[in-house]
Amino acid sequence: MRLFFRLCAFALGAAAMTAPVLAQDAIRNAITARQSLMHLYAFNLGQLGAMAKGEMAYDAETASVAAGNLARLTSIKAGPMFPPGSDNATIDKTRALPALWQNLPDVGVKQAAVAKAAAAMEAAAGDGLPALQAAIGPLGQACGACHKAYRAPED
Ligand code: HEC
Repeated sequence: MRLFFRLCAFALGAAAMTAPVLAQDAIRNAITARQSLMHLYAFNLGQLGAMAKGEMAYDAETASVAAGNLARLTSIKAGPMFPPGSDNATIDKTRALPALWQNLPDVGVKQAAVAKAAAAMEAAAGDGLPALQAAIGPLGQACGACHKAYRAPED
């Protein structure tokens, strides 16, 4: 019987010891997920930007696919990838500023703005190079507005 209790105590102790490690893993995974999402944004925006600048030949189909992807990606709910405790003052290897969690309604506004600009790009991208070029500025500005407020500069 005493052995049974000792085993239980050990099991509880082990659970208590691993719990914070698991929480840390969950936060790490969320950071990796949101940074990966940002890279998906950047890949698709990059194709559109290259066409807008004449670095890549304009192709209506390629432009439409990139813009469609970006419209889908910017409209997913990214909230779960930003758990409390995943800011750059609390944990390393992230550039998300604590201000983001202090201004969640504004973050939502900025996310809605990028989704709207991406939808406008989706409508324009297949419609010729001038239409694509007209839509790229507002889209880039929507990315930049959120970075300026809530992303630390690269060190
Ligand atoms: C609502 C806010 C918001 C919007 C809109 C936004 N970003 Fe970000 N972005 C962030 C934050 C916060 C980070 C820092 C994430 C981290 O390091 O955990 C970031 C990081 C990045 C990174 C670096 C990822 C890494 O691995 O360090 C890239 C690239 C990026 N964003 C591209 C874009 C592009 C392109 C757009 C527009 C299509 C965009 N972002 C729109 C908030 C935003």
